[in-house]
Amino acid sequence: MSSSAADPGLERAAREARRLAYAPYSGYTVGAALRTADGRTFLGANVENGSYGVCVCAERVAVLSAVIAGVRDFSAIAIATSSTPPASPCGVCLQTLAEFAPDELPIVLVNDHARVETTLGALLPRAFRPGDLKR
Ligand code: THU
Repeated sequence: MSSSAADPGLERAAREARRLAYAPYSGYTVGAALRTADGRTFLGANVENGSYGVCVCAERVAVLSAVIAGVRDFSAIAIATSSTPPASPCGVCLQTLAEFAPDELPIVLVNDHARVETTLGALLPRAFRPGDLKR
């Protein structure tokens, strides 16, 4: 885990990843850049579908890309939108992150002008985690 969320390169990567979005229905593009403990960066962007419920968020694209590359140890994620203030990940994406990352995971929300540093635990307190499945 990184103790600081300050990572200008990661924020730039998230902003640039917005260009990869396929968002013809909402017109709202989201970019995500996930830093893994081994220093790699996995990108995500939202991918929509004419069957609207099938839309996939940028954050989940990034997390799942890392997981299928065999990497489950995350140090930070940056998420870029056009929203003011910069938007938070949806609940489904927070839950996806909570499967792999602790409360301390730094999350940096950015738009073209501003940045907000937060954590997974701040956005999803008392998350349901794999350990809760113990009976
Ligand atoms: N979206 C994301 O990519 N991430 C989120 O956390 C929230 C919403 C996308 C889904 C959809 O393509 C568009 O933003 C509008 O909801």
